[in-house]
Amino acid sequence: MKNGSYFLRSNVMAEPLVDGWYAWAHLIPPATAARNLTERHLKIMDSYIESPETHAAAVKNPALLGGPFMDFKGSRVEDVKQLRQRTLHCRSKLVELSRALEKLDEMLRLRATGYSLESLYAEVPPELQGYVELVYDLNNQPSFRLIEPLLYKSSYYDPSMQSVMLSEISQDDRPFVLSTPSLEKDGSVRLNLPFASDQLDALFRMKHTPSPFESIREELNLNDEDAQRFRSFLTTEKPRPYAKYQGPGARWRYFGHACILLETAGVSVLLDPVLSYTYESDISRYTYEDLPPVIDYVLITHNHQDHILFETLLQLRHRIRNIVVPRNGGGSLQDPSLRLLLKQCGFRNIIELAEMEEIPFERGSLMSLPFMGEHGDLNVQTKAAWRLEANGHTLLFAADSCNICPQLYEHVHREIGDIDVLFVGMECNGAPMSWIYGPLLTQRIDRQKDHSRRLAGSDYDRARALVDQFGCKEVYVYAMGQEPWLNYVMSVKYTETSKPIVHSNRLIEYCQNRGIIAERLFGEREILLP
Ligand SMILES: [Fe+2]
Ligand SMILES: [Fe+2]
Repeated sequence: MKNGSYFLRSNVMAEPLVDGWYAWAHLIPPATAARNLTERHLKIMDSYIESPETHAAAVKNPALLGGPFMDFKGSRVEDVKQLRQRTLHCRSKLVELSRALEKLDEMLRLRATGYSLESLYAEVPPELQGYVELVYDLNNQPSFRLIEPLLYKSSYYDPSMQSVMLSEISQDDRPFVLSTPSLEKDGSVRLNLPFASDQLDALFRMKHTPSPFESIREELNLNDEDAQRFRSFLTTEKPRPYAKYQGPGARWRYFGHACILLETAGVSVLLDPVLSYTYESDISRYTYEDLPPVIDYVLITHNHQDHILFETLLQLRHRIRNIVVPRNGGGSLQDPSLRLLLKQCGFRNIIELAEMEEIPFERGSLMSLPFMGEHGDLNVQTKAAWRLEANGHTLLFAADSCNICPQLYEHVHREIGDIDVLFVGMECNGAPMSWIYGPLLTQRIDRQKDHSRRLAGSDYDRARALVDQFGCKEVYVYAMGQEPWLNYVMSVKYTETSKPIVHSNRLIEYCQNRGIIAERLFGEREILLP
């Protein structure tokens, strides 16, 4: 190591924030950000300011896990008031955009009656004129298409609201991010940098390549006070070297939830990256330190916050050769283009793959397969189950695919044949549709309807049908949100009687009775394929 050079400590947490809220995928595209600002953040802030004690009680109640309640140690009413003021002051354009989306919906409901839509362009709220195309579906239901690339170029997209908060983390417990803003805390350093900035790459490169203190200080433009705090995030201790897989077959490692690294001697593929930092814990796990210096392909299954985590992705950006996402047309409020979104966040080499399309690589390939359901019956196309072929082994990463129509996989099977190893998510309770998509709705949905449209993955019957259809030899239940270091984006806690546990136990038993290797993954796991 060069004299006077430092590494970034492996327990330095880097939270990407938008307006002080944890940056998940809907906070980046202007239209979804606008709706979440008015319908989620401002509402939660108002409610907290009015009754912080209700919030404090609610976060202790397991039945309300993941609900719209702020989770702070002690009262932060003054801070939340300030955040609210700042939001209203600095984000008035987004508040207007959100109201304009409401007005547009209402106008279409009243005025688009099956006749030509051309005359209605004049009635599009001014904030949205030129940014939407009005359309009918074939049943004369009116809707609109957002011109997303232009919205990112407009004043509605303001990267100056993006920042990254650095602090040390030493345990798994973090407040649920959809409900609790990230306020300044002791010892933290906030980097007011847009996500796309190269300076972040320079910082995260220091996890494996040391840099002199003064040069990173200059790069990040730190004032004296921040520089002093920042110094404590650095170390001269070298991270442990990475042992690359060199065998003839393949190795996969489970990092928690749906995050799996598959390596052959020639290629590395990381699925749904969500990583823990490195600190003492009873639950052993792979962390950032267990990744190769270069990742050939990062694959994203779908745009839910437990599968696409900017906190992890930004830290890995400089080592990702290609990031492969499911193709979507873009333009619908509930299904923003992931390609555009990642591009705004500084990713290059983004590849969109449509259903059944394939990318060959050395002694293998990756292929996007259809993924149905799990999105409250909304038209969301940013979904893929990934089939990987590596050195003669085939693996299917189905994530939260809900096998609501097994005939789909009959057709798929005819095209691709059997699968050796299946990874299937069985979070089959699922939150109601409004949990994620509620802020995008401009009309209230009946509670019963909402609860019937769940964000649920495959249950026993549906997962079993996948196993049977593809003649799998090994089955791993994953993506269950059980690792405690992911509670801050998942907010699920199961007991032995919870449906996802009961159903996945049944699946494992079913498989084992047929000589199929089967288990539910938790924490960490490594398997070598010959
Ligand atoms: Fe999901
Ligand atoms: Fe999930």
